[in-house]
Amino acid sequence: MRRPSATFLLQVVSFVPSLSAASITPDVLSLINPLIGTTNGGNVFAGATLPYGLAKAVADVDGQNTGGFGMDGSNVTGFSSIHDSGTGGNPSLGNFPLFPQVCPDDDLNNCMFRIGDRKTHYKMDSVFAEPGQFGIQLQSGIQANMTVSKHAALYKFKFPDSKGNHPLILLDLTDLWQSRQNASVIVDEKSGRMVGNGTFLPSFGAGSYQLHFCVDFFGADVHDTGVWVNNRAGTEPKHIYVTRGFNLFYLESGGFVRFKPGSDNTVTARVGLSFKNYEQACRNAEKEIPDPLKNFDSLVNAARKAWQDKLGPISVKPGGADKDLLVSFWSGAYRNMISPQNYTGENPHWDTGFPYFDSFYCIWDSFRAQHPLLTILDPEAQTQMVQSLLDMYKHEGWLPDCHMSMCQGWTQGGSNADVVLADAYVKNLSSTIDWELALEAITTDAEKEPLEWSHHGRGGLQSWRKYNYIPYLDYDPLGFGTNSRSVSRTLEYAYDDFCLATLAGGLGKNGVQKKYMRRSMNWQNLWKKDQTSIIKGKDTGFQGFFQPKYMNGTWGFQDPIACSPLTSFCSLTGNPSETFEASIWQYLL
Ligand SMILES: *[C@@H]1O[C@H](CO)[C@@H](O)[C@H](O)[C@H]1NC(C)=O
Ligand SMILES: *[C@@H]1O[C@H](CO)[C@@H](O)[C@H](O)[C@H]1NC(C)=O
Ligand SMILES: *[C@@H]1O[C@H](CO)[C@@H](O)[C@H](O)[C@H]1NC(C)=O
Ligand SMILES: *[C@@H]1O[C@H](CO)[C@@H](O)[C@H](O)[C@H]1NC(C)=O
Ligand SMILES: *[C@@H]1O[C@H](CO)[C@@H](O)[C@H](O)[C@H]1NC(C)=O
Ligand SMILES: *[C@@H]1O[C@H](CO)[C@@H](O)[C@H](O)[C@H]1NC(C)=O
Ligand SMILES: *[C@@H]1O[C@H](CO)[C@@H](O)[C@H](O)[C@H]1NC(C)=O
Repeated sequence: MRRPSATFLLQVVSFVPSLSAASITPDVLSLINPLIGTTNGGNVFAGATLPYGLAKAVADVDGQNTGGFGMDGSNVTGFSSIHDSGTGGNPSLGNFPLFPQVCPDDDLNNCMFRIGDRKTHYKMDSVFAEPGQFGIQLQSGIQANMTVSKHAALYKFKFPDSKGNHPLILLDLTDLWQSRQNASVIVDEKSGRMVGNGTFLPSFGAGSYQLHFCVDFFGADVHDTGVWVNNRAGTEPKHIYVTRGFNLFYLESGGFVRFKPGSDNTVTARVGLSFKNYEQACRNAEKEIPDPLKNFDSLVNAARKAWQDKLGPISVKPGGADKDLLVSFWSGAYRNMISPQNYTGENPHWDTGFPYFDSFYCIWDSFRAQHPLLTILDPEAQTQMVQSLLDMYKHEGWLPDCHMSMCQGWTQGGSNADVVLADAYVKNLSSTIDWELALEAITTDAEKEPLEWSHHGRGGLQSWRKYNYIPYLDYDPLGFGTNSRSVSRTLEYAYDDFCLATLAGGLGKNGVQKKYMRRSMNWQNLWKKDQTSIIKGKDTGFQGFFQPKYMNGTWGFQDPIACSPLTSFCSLTGNPSETFEASIWQYLL
């Protein structure tokens, strides 16, 4: 597939467009700062990852940890190898963290096993993040450096002089959200290899998922091994299985290995992950990181090369732009290729033999900018993403509005995968996409109301057909979801119908095109042309805003500035309102 070269014209700072690759800023990677957005709710993933990689290694903290790490001065609770990026709400993934420590008097009973006991502050100025690697030093003096391959992470833990003690590395059968239902680990007493699995809940979705791990250690001989539960550990047995028992009480548990440190006091850990089984987790790790003691630098270099290639189609001629602006720009470009994630060969539910992407988290957030941008920057990846969405439709019956960890996520507004598909269509993304299937999938969203429209499809379709808008306080006995957002759902359903019409038109189905083009005008029914907006007691002088409308045609009222940064945030669950996560003013844009 052709990879077009995109040159961004940032007029604000008088960038000059250029078509020559020669104008690429020489070392683009040095202009990427993965730590941007690690405080104040940015929730980004700051660690080591390949473009769209499954393995994402970083230090996890107990503060702002939605993406694992936060530069908020909170405490490190472990180092885990799979994350999401830029999501809100519950922290996502972060399964099976490792945690290194030296236990006082070399006594197992003095080790800190539970999160609350072991958490340790990090040295602020030791945090080091670049595309493909992450480093940090704990207050305990332990230095951790990490990098990744596609499905495995490689960690180097350097202990301070342990003075005859045997450094310990534990594995915790948890995830960041502590959503584990049941899990198990087996520790090999000779090699220290730990394998196992757990059942967890998706951080913003329905159902559950299973993840499997395979951890190997290198560079130090094994002293002893075992398992731990709560704050106690033993060298027997070598395996443990934990459940949710009384009142769904959360038991903390896992495996551990203690080492006889070598001359450099460093233990190297390789963590393989798989959504299928632990054998595949081991295989992935062995194949991708065959020589862990020697592979660190080559993995970092391979990651750097992969990122350079991915960002290759972009060039900017900086003109007078200062470095801060360039760093924002390139860091933003980098962030476009962290999620969705390439889970090809890892989907336990179906295998079409084609690439499979997951972590569409969420399409409501990505349909406006990220996917249209990828259609231009990385049409090969975007094609595979579109095909994955169609695979989900085939196997789950619905396009997702959100999808993570092999589960359907909660819908935030419309059925906006419709937009991603239509956008790919009008940009001639690929002749390999089955557009008739795409039309069928979008039509399903438009016409078939699911029982649970909280995680696929659309709600209120009966009213949509009858009144031509989603009414305020709708009566909908057919399906269930959060019965709110009547204004933003009306706007998004109208846009989704426009996308359906566009695709149908392109496929020569003129009757269908006409029908949905008409429905795409439904947004007009919530346009109240004499609505004013008073902000802080002052009439803004603007007239004409969207407003909620009851089934009987009477207008309801939502202050046009409600749900904006000037007032209070409107979430799906906290304070549902007639617009979602933005004000009526913002939905005008
Ligand atoms: C970090 O953990 C220590 C205990 O290990 C605690 O005293 C401290 O308050 C914690 N810091 C933060 C920011 O939570
Ligand atoms: C490890 O991380 C530290 C920062 O914590 C950094 O200074 C150092 O260069 C890193 N080492 C390697 C080998 O990447
Ligand atoms: C683990 O938990 C999941 C989800 O609750 C359940 O479906 C599964 O049967 C459990 N597995 C075992 C072995 O108990
Ligand atoms: C999970 O791991 C345990 C051993 O730790 C094994 O007995 C079990 O079969 C595994 N479950 C799955 C679904 O792979
Ligand atoms: C995703 O992974 C599969 C299997 O490794 C590969 O064939 C495919 O090209 C990858 N997709 C992208 C966009 O790199
Ligand atoms: C897509 O292909 C059609 C037919 O070849 C062409 O008319 C149209 O201009 C192309 N659109 C884009 C965005 O390249
Ligand atoms: C329409 O319904 C709303 C809510 O039930 C009610 O407040 C309003 O008075 C009704 N309007 C008419 C004209 O019946």
